[in-house]
Amino acid sequence: MLLRGARVIDPASGTDVVGDVYIEAGVFQAEPLTDDQNARVDQGRTKVVNGTGLVVSPGFVDLHCHLREPGQEHKETIATGTEAAARGGFTTVCAMPNTNPPIDSPGLVEFVLKRAKETGIVRVLPIGTITAGRQGERVADLEELASAGAVAFSDDGSPVANPQTMRNALMIARNLNLPIIQHCEDPAILGDAVAHEGWVSQRLGLTGAPGAAEESLAARDIELAALTRAHLHLAHVSSAGTIDLIKRAKDRGRKVTAEVMPHHLALTDEWLLGDRGSDWPTGSEYDTNLRVNPPVRSPEDVEAMAIALRDGVIDAVATDHAPHAWEDKAVPFGEAAPGISGIETAFGLLMTRLVHTGVIDLPMLITRMTIGPASVLAGVPGLGTFSEKLGPDVVILDPNQEWTVDPDEFASKGKNTPLTGCTLRGAVVATIVGGRVVHGEKALDALERVGG
Ligand code: DOR
Repeated sequence: MLLRGARVIDPASGTDVVGDVYIEAGVFQAEPLTDDQNARVDQGRTKVVNGTGLVVSPGFVDLHCHLREPGQEHKETIATGTEAAARGGFTTVCAMPNTNPPIDSPGLVEFVLKRAKETGIVRVLPIGTITAGRQGERVADLEELASAGAVAFSDDGSPVANPQTMRNALMIARNLNLPIIQHCEDPAILGDAVAHEGWVSQRLGLTGAPGAAEESLAARDIELAALTRAHLHLAHVSSAGTIDLIKRAKDRGRKVTAEVMPHHLALTDEWLLGDRGSDWPTGSEYDTNLRVNPPVRSPEDVEAMAIALRDGVIDAVATDHAPHAWEDKAVPFGEAAPGISGIETAFGLLMTRLVHTGVIDLPMLITRMTIGPASVLAGVPGLGTFSEKLGPDVVILDPNQEWTVDPDEFASKGKNTPLTGCTLRGAVVATIVGGRVVHGEKALDALERVGG
């Protein structure tokens, strides 16, 4: 197939051109075509379709998602989670280890890899726990987890609160050249908070916690990472104050990286009042689909996230795709399981809220969803770099296609999105992993034929 007049954005090689993209047996090639390919097109042996308005880029990499297998297959499985990832344009996803049991032994890492091979349709990279049983005290056998294939370590869902445990874990991970991913919410400050502390939480009578709950732990761990010369990666950064800490650490040459989630880039705590902004229909007050850790924060925090993403203080967008069952959310706000099923809406939401509003441009968004996250995994052999040319993992995007979020249409078992009924501008047309179309076969077939 020849996609005529598509825009190729490949941050790895700095490519941003409009031209023809040749796709054969899953191999993508931007111009110039070879003589043989030209001959095939001229002789009508290759289907030629109108690619005007479409964008071809490397597939997205998600540093942070929850596939719930083993143990919570009623919420998600590796099969459904990777199908959801493919629909979201992600060709590689890192699976968080807060499963049941948690991924704290090499056998469990191998289990995830095996299930991914058997049932997954995108690449799955397992993350191992930092502590045994995710209990926050004794460091798990990180060497063994790494040997089995873990690409990073995290107790995500809970912070490692004990500083001595964190120091030990950082020391071991430094020797393995792998990142420690911290869930920064200081339990002592957090208490039983379920929302961001501010006028909205006061008005709704919800217990709130300030951004300081995140900042205090981030500050501590940045110092511990400096002490141990380890790589610290801060998960789901949400508070403006944390940005200042990351910037200072990076300016001093420390090995600190960070990710931000679409909901912390696009949703404010005012959504808890039902106010989803002027473009979208009013939501419901106390929508439990907005219960997430860390919480959606103030408009000032949200703005700071976008600027930090643009400026590279934050390295990557990750989704924190956290599917939950209906009954986990059909309860009072404070009792709802935290998490948003977000992997299928990530690109559309960020296009709508960041790119079409002019906050960042499309190549920058793609950078932060591809080489940004890949660089966080640079310590893993074979990862961290993208090839100079478009590789076998590719996504085809329509930056202007509008669609309205309906969770019943999600591939994910998790229907817990606060975006129901919101129209997004920006869609994933097709996703190709290792040369195989894993999403969008029909959409590719339906492209207007202009030759061949
Ligand atoms: O809201 C969240 N949900 N935050 C986390 O860190 C964990 C996640 C989950 O596993 O559901």
